[in-house]
Amino acid sequence: MLKKKGKYIVGVVGATGAVGREMVRTLEERDFPVEKLRLFASERSEGKPIEFRDKNISVEILKENSFEGIDIALFSAGAERSKIWAPVAVRSACVVIDNSSQWRMDPEVPLVVPEVNPDDMSWHKGIIANPNCSTIQMVVVLKPIHDAARIKRVVVTTFQSVSGTGQKAIDELLQQTKDILNFKEAKCNVYPYQIAFNVLPHIDKFLENDYTKEEMKMVNETKKIMGDNSINITATTVRVPVFRSHSESLNIETERKVTANEVRAILSEAPGIIVFDAPHKNIYPIPINIAGRDETYVGRIREDESIEKGINMWIVADNLRKGAALNAVQIAERMIGKE
Ligand SMILES: NC(=O)c1ccc[n+]([C@@H]2O[C@H](COP(=O)([O-])OP(=O)(O)OC[C@H]3O[C@@H](n4cnc5c(N)ncnc54)[C@H](OP(=O)(O)O)[C@@H]3O)[C@@H](O)[C@H]2O)c1
Repeated sequence: MLKKKGKYIVGVVGATGAVGREMVRTLEERDFPVEKLRLFASERSEGKPIEFRDKNISVEILKENSFEGIDIALFSAGAERSKIWAPVAVRSACVVIDNSSQWRMDPEVPLVVPEVNPDDMSWHKGIIANPNCSTIQMVVVLKPIHDAARIKRVVVTTFQSVSGTGQKAIDELLQQTKDILNFKEAKCNVYPYQIAFNVLPHIDKFLENDYTKEEMKMVNETKKIMGDNSINITATTVRVPVFRSHSESLNIETERKVTANEVRAILSEAPGIIVFDAPHKNIYPIPINIAGRDETYVGRIREDESIEKGINMWIVADNLRKGAALNAVQIAERMIGKE
């Protein structure tokens, strides 16, 4: 569907947001062959300058004909906007890589993590979905273990940064921290409770089954990406007062027994992963050290001594990069044959 060219006209929808800004940076850093970059956001941002390759580009608002001539559009403006505007873009022969939850579980739309299921890109019909940030870093790690030992069950608990909610939540954590340290009242606008100096076992809306939407995204998206409905997953997702990078504790039960050393060896060979695991020297991944990095870092790998075939580990990745912008740009790179 996408014509092969030397350079491409690229659009970023939601360019002023936490993910959108990271997308612009990632396109520049990875030297994506951009002939022209067009940036879109809401009316609030119309005309705002955003820097790309030492030049300022003015933010535009979306119109019916906005996508004419654009080859690839990276969307990160929320599900409602994707629902309306992704089909408009596709009608203009533009390929959409969508970061929102709108199309992820649509059977007509591939849900892709390039390290895991790159072949699914071949059947797209104009839209390719980027998974949820907490799912992406988990499947990057699960895939090589599943290939080697078949995963039966995963118990995951997340420790997710506020940038996962967007720019307003980053501002809220900063403001609450300042206010509390100045003996002022902390105001809550984004989350139901204070996030500074606190932990909230609540990400996204609660569903009928008392899980949150975020927890069920981790369950359902993982099965779709891995192409295997037999993997049992249960998730608890938690917001922590960290600006950037999500951490996850994984407990994995396998069909074949794998030792911790074997898992270290498997993951060391796998794409997009860095094993950072020497606990006796205090070496394990922590969010502040992983922010700005591309890989998913894995540490605390150890056998689960409570079951016969189980492994525990701790994984950390930058939610704005691998969890969003980088994964989208990697999909675009594969699409144009640049990896
Ligand atoms: N943050 C993450 O780690 C992460 C990871 C994976 C996926 N995602 C998904 O990516 C999307 C964006 O997340 P974010 O964290 O970047 O949020 P954000 O910081 O709140 O940014 C939202 C963006 O959407 C734009 N927007 C809002 N209403 C619009 C409209 N009517 N028309 C056009 N643009 C509009 C905003 O423009 P203005 O600045 O003009 O309001 C802004 O650029 C969401 O769907 C989210 O679920 C986020």
